[in-house]
Amino acid sequence: MQEPRGLRAWLTGLAPELAPDFVARSGNVRLFDADRDLERVLFASIPPARLGKRGRKVDDLWVKSSWLSDAENDGSLRVRVAFGRERDDDASGDLLRHRLVADLASRLFPESALVSANPALVQIVERMIGEPALFTQHIAYWNAPEGGALFHHDAFAEDEEESGRPGQLGVCYVQLSGRTAWLALSIEDLAVRVREFVECLAEGELPWVSAQLFPNEAARKRIEALVQYDDALVRELARPGCGLFAALVNRGPEFTAWLADAGHAAVLSPGDAILLPNHGLARTAMHSVFCAGDEVAYALSLAIRADREQTPFLVEETKVAPPRRTKP
Ligand SMILES: [Fe+2]
Repeated sequence: MQEPRGLRAWLTGLAPELAPDFVARSGNVRLFDADRDLERVLFASIPPARLGKRGRKVDDLWVKSSWLSDAENDGSLRVRVAFGRERDDDASGDLLRHRLVADLASRLFPESALVSANPALVQIVERMIGEPALFTQHIAYWNAPEGGALFHHDAFAEDEEESGRPGQLGVCYVQLSGRTAWLALSIEDLAVRVREFVECLAEGELPWVSAQLFPNEAARKRIEALVQYDDALVRELARPGCGLFAALVNRGPEFTAWLADAGHAAVLSPGDAILLPNHGLARTAMHSVFCAGDEVAYALSLAIRADREQTPFLVEETKVAPPRRTKP
């Protein structure tokens, strides 16, 4: 994957698994993230012949390879399967295209059946979301030693329950080889821990951390004021890279140890899975993931959505029913 056209070469080798339902389109595709993206290949889905003219052709599925971070010397890679325009369609609820992505990804990564065809796991997820689950928008991760992802969430504004649309309900991550170290907690819990930590700094504890975090008194005052307001604090943490709190939540080791001591850390070994529930930006799971050990760690993450539509391959536009959820 790290070689030029490595993704297309890998996909070409898998073409027999994809035919006749999915066909790679030729030509170069514009890359979305110039710093991290390596290659993107578009796919067309060919509707089943039995549907005749009623079959809807979808030609904007894609598979993308990219570096996991823009940190120098981080060789971690990921391959993502999705559809449409990046960012604009990331939160799309188009169930047909989500199902096609799920089908395409299950052929590229047959090991994803360890999640999507795992009765025990599917049962847990469906009990939590209160309806049939669709696992889609697969991402394969190769976390290289010392590589990983800083604190972030996987939520979209469109996932808010108040929006009345079925959103992404969470993510299931499963470790397949190697080990990863996790910090994972609800955004509300992260807000509580950040407030505690800032109050501790304000009392003069860990002065070297204050010196590194706050370039001047104004910066310190701004953070101390922000942690006083629950909504503002959560909103800031939900911003890309955790906004003004980026340095505090990611710098470690003091805050990392603070979270670990509070029970928010875990090490995932092969066969372990972690569920990251999601109810929109203000109620989601914050997480940071790093390779733990000197072996490249391979894992898959799958988005969880409600699987509602009965006849998704037909031309009719997806009709979206209002969410019917039982309480978890
Ligand atoms: Fe994530």
